[in-house]
Amino acid sequence: MKEVKVKVLKPYNIYIAHDFNLFKGLLERYKCHSLFIVTDDTVYNLYKNYINQIPNIIGVTSIKPGEGSKNINTVLEIYNSLIKSNANKKTTMVAMGGGVVGDLAAFAASTFMRGIRIVHVPTTLMAQCDSSIGGKTGFDYNGIKNIIGTFYQPEFVFCDVNFLKTLDKRQFLNGIAEVIKYSIVCDDGLWNYLMQNKRGLLERESDKLIHVVHQCSKIKAKIVEEDEFDNDKRQILNFGHTIGHAIESYFNFEILHGEAISIGMVVESYISYQLGYIDISDYKTIVELIKNFGLPIKIKVDDVEKLMEYIKKDKKKINENIKFALPYNIGNAIITGDLKENFVKNAIKYCIGG
Ligand SMILES: NC(=O)c1ccc[n+]([C@@H]2O[C@H](COP(=O)([O-])OP(=O)(O)OC[C@H]3O[C@@H](n4cnc5c(N)ncnc54)[C@H](O)[C@@H]3O)[C@@H](O)[C@H]2O)c1
Repeated sequence: MKEVKVKVLKPYNIYIAHDFNLFKGLLERYKCHSLFIVTDDTVYNLYKNYINQIPNIIGVTSIKPGEGSKNINTVLEIYNSLIKSNANKKTTMVAMGGGVVGDLAAFAASTFMRGIRIVHVPTTLMAQCDSSIGGKTGFDYNGIKNIIGTFYQPEFVFCDVNFLKTLDKRQFLNGIAEVIKYSIVCDDGLWNYLMQNKRGLLERESDKLIHVVHQCSKIKAKIVEEDEFDNDKRQILNFGHTIGHAIESYFNFEILHGEAISIGMVVESYISYQLGYIDISDYKTIVELIKNFGLPIKIKVDDVEKLMEYIKKDKKKINENIKFALPYNIGNAIITGDLKENFVKNAIKYCIGG
């Protein structure tokens, strides 16, 4: 089992393994003797047997899968179930699922009785590499994503890569997009690994998955340590996201986040090339890698002006200019604050048409 330490105000460990039995030992080690499980129906149906093996469960809430559940009503559902199960200050919540379950459960844990302990058991690649680390919790409200939330660090995170083997291909690739992002802006070693191990990763070989989840956890942990409350350093993880978020909104969230940021990474890499931060061969290799993993590099946008409106609405916009986190060679990033609208528009037109 691999371990990554997250040295924030309340430090914790991430454990990466491919044996669910190790989880029971960790619960014992951390003295978690009264457990309340939050999961979603897909994960519950697939992993009922795992859940049934966990000792000392006082209650289970299984929510409807997907972003549509990430709202105040589901939080209330969790509170009601906690009360019905006689949960108290000694109860530990276990969030077993993707980022939606993790964000909702952690929000509920951070507010129920002014805070009960939470353990994350992320079951998607997105959640293992990203959302379970860093302590951001929350839900969507009034049509605005993650507008309500808290910072709340877990007792520990347990990533069993075997979970990733039941993810459908689209959801698996959704997580791969974030892994590619980490490699481009933070870790050229991971970048080389992705270039050399594409087949093994797509076949979800355990050792490859462990390597990737381990590297991504280390990257996310380091960034979170430097910027626990998301003030500046975490912004480098926004590479691909300024354009990506706008694409998600433009297509009414019918495209997955990872697919949108893949296209976003293509456009933003082109911008980086134009600014002289990466050379043309890096730009072309980035596009090739994204494409070779089976992620989209283009999407037909009929109304570029409308897409620009979404980009400008994005919280990273400063005055009339648009702010980007861009690759600076492979493995490093730079934050720009002074890109003119027309320059961005031309890059979009060049990369994805319109
Ligand atoms: N807190 C953070 O720092 C942070 C960071 C990034 C993303 N997020 C949030 O994460 C959410 C997205 O997370 P996600 O991509 O994991 O989506 P998700 O939680 O909706 O899971 C995706 C789908 O996969 C299914 N699933 C989960 N585990 C499975 C498994 N092992 N086998 C088969 N199916 C499985 C789920 O039921 C769901 O249908 C968004 O709400 C986003 O805002 C939070």
